[in-house]
Amino acid sequence: MGRLACERFAEEGAQVVVADLNMDAVEEVVAAIVAAGGSAVGAQVDVRYADQVEAMVQRSVTEFGGLDIIYNNAGVSPGEDDTPLNTSEETWDFTFDVNVKGVFLCNKFAIAAMLDSGGGSIINVASFVAHMGAATPQIAYTSSKGAVLSMTREIAAIYARQGIRANALCPGPVLTPLLAKFLSDEEKRQRRLVHIPMGRFGEAAEMVNGALFLASDDSSYMTGQSLLIDGGITSSYTTPL
Ligand SMILES: NC(=O)c1ccc[n+]([C@@H]2O[C@H](COP(=O)([O-])OP(=O)(O)OC[C@H]3O[C@@H](n4cnc5c(N)ncnc54)[C@H](O)[C@@H]3O)[C@@H](O)[C@H]2O)c1
Repeated sequence: MGRLACERFAEEGAQVVVADLNMDAVEEVVAAIVAAGGSAVGAQVDVRYADQVEAMVQRSVTEFGGLDIIYNNAGVSPGEDDTPLNTSEETWDFTFDVNVKGVFLCNKFAIAAMLDSGGGSIINVASFVAHMGAATPQIAYTSSKGAVLSMTREIAAIYARQGIRANALCPGPVLTPLLAKFLSDEEKRQRRLVHIPMGRFGEAAEMVNGALFLASDDSSYMTGQSLLIDGGITSSYTTPL
């Protein structure tokens, strides 16, 4: 989803700092954007570390003269994440380090840059599981995404009058590597599908379209919100088959 977001933002005219832990993937995405006539540079970042996040944001300021949009998409969903009884402290801490502290640090340094340039749009990726319990237990992940929603609302309220909007994007299930690892067999996949009124997984492009909307002036009166793109999953009590 991050890759597609970088490519689509570039197509729409954004100058993109492509940032990820995986530098090979970063270089591939930068090359694809540049080959298509867009503007992008790469940055290796582990969002758990303040100095690396600060350098990533600085890259945007140095290369492109500021920061208008940040799309905080990096996240983990460890296979060992399970019920509270079966989830270790290590799994909890790791999940929160990336999914909550990582988003906090990205917001922290982005806000400073956005205040310098007169405003901006922050998009924090949460999940539909922040709105309801998941049929397949993942206590650390679900709790971490709930924290992303409350963090987003607080940031929206603090900075609204300074021209910074902050919204959360809540994807439903999309069969990316993250979810494929978690829903590792057909039985688990079917258990998730049965709850989706549309009866299918989402497409990465359907999530990225939401991100583009939140980034743009089309959503100019929208802040502190959670945009659910989930095939109806959070509206459904049971699914007629
Ligand atoms: N796939 C889904 O069904 C789904 C549903 C709801 C929400 N989400 C959320 O969407 C976002 C993207 O998920 P995805 O499915 O594309 O996952 P993915 O595993 O395909 O991609 C996640 C990316 O985050 C990067 N990353 C992981 N830890 C990092 C770190 N510490 N620092 C920097 N980068 C790091 C990985 O290298 C990877 O490129 C995540 O926040 C995820 O929780 C996914």
